[in-house]
Amino acid sequence: MEERIKQFLEERARAGLLRELTEVESLPGGRVLAGGREYINFSSNDYLGLSCHPDIIKAVRETAAPVFGSQASRLMTGSTASHHRLEEEIARLKNKRAALIFNSGYHANVGVISALCGKGDVIFSDRLNHASIVDGIKLSGARLFRFRHNDMDHLGRLLSRERAKYNGTLIITETVFSMDGDRAPIADIIRLKKKHNCMLMADEAHATGVFGKSGGGLLADEDAGGDTDIVMGTFGKALGSFGAYVAVSKAIRDYLVNACRSFIYSTALPVPVINANIAALDIVRRNPAPRTRLLAEAEYFRNRLKDRGFRAGGRSQIVPVTIGDAADTIRLAAYLKRMGYWVTPVRPPTVPEGTARLRLSVTSNHGRDLLDKFVEDISKY
Ligand SMILES: Cc1ncc(COP(=O)(O)O)c(C=O)c1O
Repeated sequence: MEERIKQFLEERARAGLLRELTEVESLPGGRVLAGGREYINFSSNDYLGLSCHPDIIKAVRETAAPVFGSQASRLMTGSTASHHRLEEEIARLKNKRAALIFNSGYHANVGVISALCGKGDVIFSDRLNHASIVDGIKLSGARLFRFRHNDMDHLGRLLSRERAKYNGTLIITETVFSMDGDRAPIADIIRLKKKHNCMLMADEAHATGVFGKSGGGLLADEDAGGDTDIVMGTFGKALGSFGAYVAVSKAIRDYLVNACRSFIYSTALPVPVINANIAALDIVRRNPAPRTRLLAEAEYFRNRLKDRGFRAGGRSQIVPVTIGDAADTIRLAAYLKRMGYWVTPVRPPTVPEGTARLRLSVTSNHGRDLLDKFVEDISKY
């Protein structure tokens, strides 16, 4: 095994793909401190700047004493009134009968998919779905078919050819894709789900808080929550906190409480975190203006980059700028760092070979002046 580890590290280093952990402190206002220098953060998932919202900080402070840790899993003594209240709030926001909190989005995807699907079942998964979805599918033992990204003809053909050979069938998609910032064609997926009698799971990690009248996500925007059997999302992105959830029927919730191993065998989130999540939901529900503004600013930024000849994509607050070659992308990110911007280059294996990119995320902390300045600076490279 030691030999394999050594070989892995050497290969990654030779290809310029070895990842390292850098010490970074987040500062209020969408900035980070690293190596004694401040940078403007263009790699943050704190899309609405809620991670330092006074109501969230207050919710944490007011519940931090006298006990911080939850001391046990939810099925032992970790299921407080706050956990139940948060689940009710999520169910309401997502227009579902019930919800269940998970310790992270990774826990949720891995646990839920592997609890719902098994041998004899089949899963149709978008090719660009997140690693946590991929890992959940692997763990489930179900047969997997990956459809080309957002390609409904391909999904339809796969369903027609394969669906009847299996027992249970699950289609899985993100609603806003994490690395491409584009959106799933939800209405078409639902049409196929109904035609072929499947279940549908949607990952709203990057949509919750940003889309939807009350911040309920892209499914809420398209009135599609009712047709989506498992609506998954996280608190660690636009909601500025930590943890995750699924919004589901009462029966699926009860099933997961009894069968989902990442839920059962893990210590419950502490109450201060849960209360921060409740405060975050309250903020997004009451304040639609910041998300409307955020999406308009992101569209402006994307168009300005395109005007300057960059391959800027997406249809959300995430603006990927595809460079292609991994080494070129790393050099461009290093230049931007010298200019005072924190931009993490995204390379294979996180994205497909030949599509290395800067994943720029616009947040409520970036005003138009700053976005303009960024476009000027990147254009000088
Ligand atoms: C689409 C998607 N799903 C799930 C996750 C995992 O969420 P968490 O960070 O809460 O584990 C992420 C995180 O990057 C994500 O982008």
